[in-house]
Amino acid sequence: MPKRPRPDAAERIPDRPTLSTVREAARDCQACDLYKRGTQTVFGEGGRKAELMLVGEQPGDAEDLAGHPFVGPAGKLLDRALEDAGIDRAAVYVTNVVKHFKWEPRGKRRIHKKPNAGEIAACRPWLDTEIQLVKPRAIVCLGATAAQALIGRQFKVTAHRGEFIASSLAPLVLATVHPSSILRAPDDDTRRQEMERFTDDLRKVAKALR
Ligand code: URA
Ligand code: SF4
Repeated sequence: MPKRPRPDAAERIPDRPTLSTVREAARDCQACDLYKRGTQTVFGEGGRKAELMLVGEQPGDAEDLAGHPFVGPAGKLLDRALEDAGIDRAAVYVTNVVKHFKWEPRGKRRIHKKPNAGEIAACRPWLDTEIQLVKPRAIVCLGATAAQALIGRQFKVTAHRGEFIASSLAPLVLATVHPSSILRAPDDDTRRQEMERFTDDLRKVAKALR
């Protein structure tokens, strides 16, 4: 059999992986076309023994440039909500379903594009390995992409946000909105309300972890 030019992500995962060896292996992943568009792989970060894992969709513009998850505007909002919920971000592992930024040019700006099912599936081995290694007690899916990838294709965040969902991934699994959706709120009042609901969802997880 001729060697395939592009090994899938699972083939790149070292035999006895650690977070640092998997992160290293993901650096030159080419398992889907998104590596061509993004600046770099943005792998998850946080405590190796974090009790809480937060899973977003994909790195944004700022994350793509910095190489770290949730460091841009959505990350700042997330930091504030975590603090208000009494959760130390340093004690959390933060990652994304897809590890490269998918974007389209609009003028000089790079506009976020939703990853498709093929890209999500291609990237999945990285996330599965992160979950296996960190073994969080709680996983919080931030937004529909993460919730549908981890909980189920039919899952509706609007209907079931803030509810604990039975899952083999972790003892506690819950989905809430994506912090970017709060940034897109039409006015200040809505934004404040949405921020409060988001923080409440995180408080619920914090309480269950105590
Ligand atoms: N949005 C995400 O889903 N993840 C990030 O890392 C940043 C923004
Ligand atoms: Fe690999 Fe994921 Fe990047 Fe696609 S998005 S190239 S699967 S790391």
